[in-house]
Amino acid sequence: MKNFKRTLITSALPYANGPVHIGHLAGVYIPADIYARYLRLKGEEVAFIGGSDEHGVPITLKAKKEGITPQDVVDKYHGIIKDSFEKFGISFDVYSRTSAKVHHETASEIFKTIYDKGLFIEQTSEQFYDEEANQFLADRYITGTCPKCHFEKAYGDQCESCGSTLNATDLIDPKSVLSGNKPLMKETKHWFLPLDQYEPWLREWILENHKEWKSNVYGQCKSWIDGGLNPRAVTRDLDWGIPVPVKGAEGKVLYVWFDAPIGYISATKEWTPDWEKWWKDPETKLIHFIGKDNIVFHCIIFPVVLKAEGTYILPENVPANEFLNLEGDKISTSRNWAVWLHEYLVDFPNKEDVLKYTLTANAPETKDNDFTWKDFQTRNNSELVAILGNFVNRTLVLTDKYYNGEVPKSGDLTDYDTNALNEIGILKVETEKALDTFHFREALKSAMEMARLGNKYLADMEPWKVVKTDPVRVKTILNVALQITANLTIVFEPFLPFTAAKLRGFMNLGKFDWKELGRTDLIGAGHRINTPELLFEKIEDEAIQAQVDKLLATKKANELEQQTAKPAKDNIVYEDFAKMDIRIGTIIAAEKVAKTKKLLKLTIDTGIDQRTVVSGIAEYFEPENIIGQQVTILVNLAPKMLKGIESQGMILTAENSEGSLVFVTPASKIKEGSEVK
Ligand code: 2FM
Ligand code: ZN
Repeated sequence: MKNFKRTLITSALPYANGPVHIGHLAGVYIPADIYARYLRLKGEEVAFIGGSDEHGVPITLKAKKEGITPQDVVDKYHGIIKDSFEKFGISFDVYSRTSAKVHHETASEIFKTIYDKGLFIEQTSEQFYDEEANQFLADRYITGTCPKCHFEKAYGDQCESCGSTLNATDLIDPKSVLSGNKPLMKETKHWFLPLDQYEPWLREWILENHKEWKSNVYGQCKSWIDGGLNPRAVTRDLDWGIPVPVKGAEGKVLYVWFDAPIGYISATKEWTPDWEKWWKDPETKLIHFIGKDNIVFHCIIFPVVLKAEGTYILPENVPANEFLNLEGDKISTSRNWAVWLHEYLVDFPNKEDVLKYTLTANAPETKDNDFTWKDFQTRNNSELVAILGNFVNRTLVLTDKYYNGEVPKSGDLTDYDTNALNEIGILKVETEKALDTFHFREALKSAMEMARLGNKYLADMEPWKVVKTDPVRVKTILNVALQITANLTIVFEPFLPFTAAKLRGFMNLGKFDWKELGRTDLIGAGHRINTPELLFEKIEDEAIQAQVDKLLATKKANELEQQTAKPAKDNIVYEDFAKMDIRIGTIIAAEKVAKTKKLLKLTIDTGIDQRTVVSGIAEYFEPENIIGQQVTILVNLAPKMLKGIESQGMILTAENSEGSLVFVTPASKIKEGSEVK
């Protein structure tokens, strides 16, 4: 194992084209913050870097849509994002942005160094071009019909209907988002990073020397490398971003994924003139916290950029997380399916740590996980309130009541007391081990065990009973309980910093170092605690229901929006239509078909006759409610046996926005047998 002097922690720069949500927090910022706080508490030298990613095509599209400049877009969201992080106590040493001057300079310099070394490949290729708008079109600027599923609004890089990854040239009938015109192909020059040339090096550096990386990260790297690496363009034809700093590159900018990770370096420069010690000294341990969609950029592309430049250190670990879903669905900014941090802060004031607790306890460390409001409520009420809060409250209230807030002197310890106190040391080791290996859920679980331990200790010792018979013994019990409580202020500091600070306030204690954790004399006899208050409060059903209702409203709005009608089928001639004999009829009897879920057996008065129709509508109608209902029926559909019953015709229905079927009926009641034509 290498010995490092300091740790440089970076957390993925969120795109400044929308606010941040719980997925960002759970996947990246909470784990990075826990790690930073833990190392600081251990007295280590740490830098924790963050910032907003302010380039890229989606930002320009958003600006166009809203009729503002890209700079306006990023100014707005950088402000909102920064504020949310501050309020959640994400303890960045610096939170910068990639539109900053220092970043433009830094990214240009790094590009120039690699360019001057002759390491880029210069290549001319044909790209889509909009003549009216006079510009080349990035993939997102082109829409057309998906060649796979025929969805008409697929983007040049992806079809959001079937999820396929596409090339803009695959689209059927491509159109420019700017003018609506069919784009032309035009030659353009770009610079490519020859990833393929670095394959042997990557193989050794990651696959041989970093076998300890999380299996999801290692696995993705292996599959990229084994799949064969290709040169990757690091410039784009776009007018938003960092101009490519070479002659003949007018109108071109650096690819957003080339400049964004360099943002970690420029933010460090903004923070300290001594930035080189953080980025160029091999005794600095660099750790990137990211989500799984960023793995290739942080483990392959950025390291190749740094390696090509030649003077920077490389990441020692990249503990990427999987994704967090919300109530069973993928979190989506465009569909507004998210819990936005700035809204949570308004809806749940002073409950930042409750969300942090829930998101850490349920972190998507090894697989995608689901956030539900119900689980959030349970974690608060049954864990934070019932275990941690309850233990602390009982200890402090009893100290206040029996000793007027003065820490009592311990007498002789029983085995039970000693075991409880020893347990703190054991839990410390467990928590550390988990934190050192980026297993934050497990680490939080061990910390919570310490509160459970205290809770159980009090429940078993029952000081409220013993006080009546053995007042001396109670002093020892409460002294032990207070030592456990003081230890909680340390062990929870990385996870729940607001709570730890509150608890220190209740106990009238300063901040301890991590190394003090496990001590059984943290709080001396005679020390006065403050009048205790509650550490956590119960979250009522109404507050949860309000959030669930908010999501339901979003779901409804999305469904309505998505109801773009399917494209029309191929034309037919009138004779085709005239073959169908469609009449108005009335349901005169209805019953469920035994042993089926979907089928109803209907008797229809068609005006011609009374006939039986078996229809797949049982999930949407109760038989007794549809007697007398007028319906439209195709009477000359060839009869068919369904579950042993001959069905003579078909009832016409349509689907509503909730996905239920409704009958197609005449606007007013008319005679049975009337023809539809
Ligand atoms: O995926 C994202 O949200 C990117 N904006 C992350 C960039 S991380 C780093 F490279 F800046
Ligand atoms: Zn598709």
